[in-house]
Order: sequence, then structure tokens, then C-alpha cells
Amino acid sequence: MPPVNLAIVYYSATGTVHALAEAAAEGGEKAGADVRLRKVAETAPPEAVSARPEWAQHLRDTADIAEACHDDLEWADAVLFGTPTRFGNPASPLRAFIETTGPLWFQGKLADKVYSAFTASNTAHGGQESTILALGNTFYHWGGIIVPPGYTDPVQFQSGNPYGTSHVAGDGPPGEVALQAARHQARRVVGAAAALKAGRGAA
Ligand SMILES: Cc1cc2nc3c(=O)[nH]c(=O)nc-3n(C[C@H](O)[C@H](O)[C@H](O)COP(=O)(O)O)c2cc1C
Repeated sequence: MPPVNLAIVYYSATGTVHALAEAAAEGGEKAGADVRLRKVAETAPPEAVSARPEWAQHLRDTADIAEACHDDLEWADAVLFGTPTRFGNPASPLRAFIETTGPLWFQGKLADKVYSAFTASNTAHGGQESTILALGNTFYHWGGIIVPPGYTDPVQFQSGNPYGTSHVAGDGPPGEVALQAARHQARRVVGAAAALKAGRGAA
């Protein structure tokens, strides 16, 4: 059985979601998947980025990470999307990437894959769930198979978000609980995608 192809497609301005994405990549690799870690292109004007040194620094720090493209989605059996909460919604650079995928969608190339999402917000009730659910709207349109973490691992009772891994950035960078939750979410997504792949292979 060939390994599951897992694409982790994320946006991060200041590194929080990037840290979760890296943990998800670790979890996916440990579960036996081939993993592509991909950032989406920055869409903010350079003057907005340079006005916040931590934003500019993060862009420099992640310059070597490849940008997501359509082939990553086509290649993937499962896609994990990561985004900061922006006014209770996914960040616009991720939406901008998603909104280029019409031709793939039209050809049915986004259907039947496993999808899941993770996020960060500045405050505990700042819109983590609404952000993940908003991405879910897109997964429905694509005919995706949504695999949330639920409470399927003890870490979920500590991290506390069954919709998807999330972290309160206002408390500092993601600690071991959030990173463990991201690893678990990726493992679970890979497990579901592997079962589907095996079932389809047998059909
Ligand atoms: C335009 C904008 C809108 C934001 N809206 C919210 C929000 O609705 N709720 C919240 O808790 N944090 C909000 N934040 C804070 C971000 O969610 C937080 O900085 C982000 O999760 C950090 O992730 P990153 O380090 O990966 O960029 C907002 C930030 C920006 C720049």
C-alpha cells in the first residue's frame, strides 16, 4: 500500500500557526505519511509587513518553505489547513489561495479527500471555532471528508478543542499540549486517509 500523501497548507504572520503546522508535519510523518509542508503566499503589502518587526522576521525565517500550489492539493490524499483567526474568520492569504482552486474543484479533483483544520487566536474566545467551521464550509463545497480530532486522544481533554487544534497566541508560543494536539490531529487524519485509500484500492 503506498503511503498517504498529506499536504499541510497554512498561513502564519508571526509564527504561531507555523509552529502548529510543523508539529502536524511531525505527527503525519510519524504516522507514515509523505508530507508536504506548504505556506501560502503573503498577500499583505510590504509596508504593512515591515511595520511589524515580528511579522517581517517570520517571513524571513520561513523563506525556505515552499509556497502551496494546486499540485499539492491534487497530490494529497489528505489536507490539513492552518490559519490564524482574523475577526473570527480564516486569514485572507489562505482564502486567496483557496479561491484560486476553482479549476480543480470544477474537475472534481478536490472531492473525496480528507480535510481538517487548525488555528490560533489572540484570545480564548476570539473565534477559533468559527474560523475552523468557516473552512469547513469550503470542505463541504469540495465534497471533502471532514475528519476533526474530537476527543479521540487524552490530549484533547487538555487542549479542549474538538473542532481542530487551536492555540491562544496571547498566552505565548504553542506549548507541548497544543503541539501534541497538532501531532494527534495529523495522525488521525492520516489514519482516516489510509483506511480510505486501502478501501478504494481493494474496491
Ligand atoms: C487583522 C487581524 C484580525 C484578528 N482578529 C482576531 C480575532 O478575531 N480574535 C482573536 O482572538 N485574535 C485575532 N487576531 C490575532 C491573531 O489571531 C493572532 O495574532 C494569530 O493567531 C497569531 O498567529 P500567527 O502567529 O500564526 O500569525 C487578529 C489579528 C489580525 C492581524
